[in-house]
Amino acid sequence: MKFTVASTKSKDLTNDALVVFLRQDQTGASDTLLDNLTNEEIKRLQKSGDFTGEHGKTRTLYHAKSPERLVLVGLGKAAGLTLEKLREAGSAAAGALKNLPVVSAGVIIPKIPKMATDEIMQALCESIALGCYEFTHYKTAKKEKTDMSEIQFFARAAGEKRQAEKGLARGEIIARAVAAARDLGNHPANVATPSHLAQHATDLSRKFPNKTLRVKILHRADIEREKMGALLAVSRGSDEEPKFIILEYYGKRKAPVVALVGKGITFDSGGINIKPSEKMEEMKYDMAGAATVLETIRAAADLKLPINLVGLIPATENLPSGKATKPGDIIRSRSGKTIEVVNTDAEGRLVLSDALDYAKQYKPDLVIDFATLTGSIVVALGDDIIGAFSNSPAQLKNMQDAASVTGEKLWPMPLDKDYEIFIKSDFADLRNQAAIRYGDAIHAANFLKNFTDYPWIHLDIAGVAWATREKPYRPKGATGTGIRLVLEFLKKFKK
Ligand code: BES
Ligand code: ZN
Ligand code: ZN
Repeated sequence: MKFTVASTKSKDLTNDALVVFLRQDQTGASDTLLDNLTNEEIKRLQKSGDFTGEHGKTRTLYHAKSPERLVLVGLGKAAGLTLEKLREAGSAAAGALKNLPVVSAGVIIPKIPKMATDEIMQALCESIALGCYEFTHYKTAKKEKTDMSEIQFFARAAGEKRQAEKGLARGEIIARAVAAARDLGNHPANVATPSHLAQHATDLSRKFPNKTLRVKILHRADIEREKMGALLAVSRGSDEEPKFIILEYYGKRKAPVVALVGKGITFDSGGINIKPSEKMEEMKYDMAGAATVLETIRAAADLKLPINLVGLIPATENLPSGKATKPGDIIRSRSGKTIEVVNTDAEGRLVLSDALDYAKQYKPDLVIDFATLTGSIVVALGDDIIGAFSNSPAQLKNMQDAASVTGEKLWPMPLDKDYEIFIKSDFADLRNQAAIRYGDAIHAANFLKNFTDYPWIHLDIAGVAWATREKPYRPKGATGTGIRLVLEFLKKFKK
């Protein structure tokens, strides 16, 4: 989809539809871009109560002249109109347009008290693009309707247009990254293999000239040389080659270094501790953390963020076989710490332990890991809230602030010291499944803590990475949640 900003008079509008955002506390839409007749019509709708501008509601009007359709979208009352509410309205607009045979749509940039034009535009681009997201890669039937291919935003003055273009550029980059991450999560595990993720990383790096984005893939022999015993233990049952993906983005010399670590289990069957059949097919998204890291770094490079990023992705399948790691097996992780694999389904913390240990050599100012790590976090926080664990209260607070901007919900969880006893093994240094049934999200985080020596935030995205219900600008399937959040966080990052 192409997004553009134009300044134009209403008589020039040639789009199939024009989107007008309306607040509940405004009368009519007196705008230079709308003629008097339209404005009167809108006032009549408001007076009759047929369309009041209630948040998220839409209504389509038809005209004899171009644009033939006027799509009214409610913003609700100005008081309490946040960026997230605006995104929800953008998503409602996308929903209305998707159901119409509209190829090119115009959008009048809404004026909102105390909101800058570039922010408004970024929010609208993100929500419209992501609201239109569909994963149709494997559908062979021809579509009934042509997809919308162009959205033209109309600005009134030159200053507004410049601001709008700035916000549009950001919104487009970010939406593209989120959509690409969704694709990776939605592709089945027979396509999105560890090698596929490695190829994706390589393709990304080739898009940037002058080595701004460098990629290094560690293959099995390299992984062995690195003594990543935990990653190798998980991959033993699989015929797919494990990969360890390293992406490095150099945004600015002497700027802080942030390492992003992503769980890249391209299919989690549970291994020998095999999972129940129900919903097992969804475990293709167990590489959502990896997708988040890959696409965050791509977007950061596109946005030219003045920061240095390292992406680290341990990628493998987790399958049972005659060669697979068994419950009770003891392995040696890269750090030298030994781990009793009590449960082969707690594989995420194993592969992450080697990646977190590898991150140390970068002397990072912060490490953030993204992982669909535990069912426990889904029980605790549901499908819409990220569980956040950190040894740095200040950075966690910054992450919460970023979440309040992007609308991705996050809740602080404890790295409780008294619980550390539960992951001590009788036979090795650590056990990967706690010796107590409850609170596994905390035990998993405590387990990871053993492999860090730097400021660190662990985001358990098991609940949020996959949607079984529709929400604004987030259809069912892989959600790409976390990318907008961490980009907002990185934009303001200070050590
Ligand atoms: N990938 C799963 C966690 C998960 C569960 C993600 C549900 C998304 C939705 C992880 O590898 C896993 O299987 N964890 C186990 C750990 C347990 C065996 C200690 C779990 O949560 O049951
Ligand atoms: Zn598992
Ligand atoms: Zn898993």
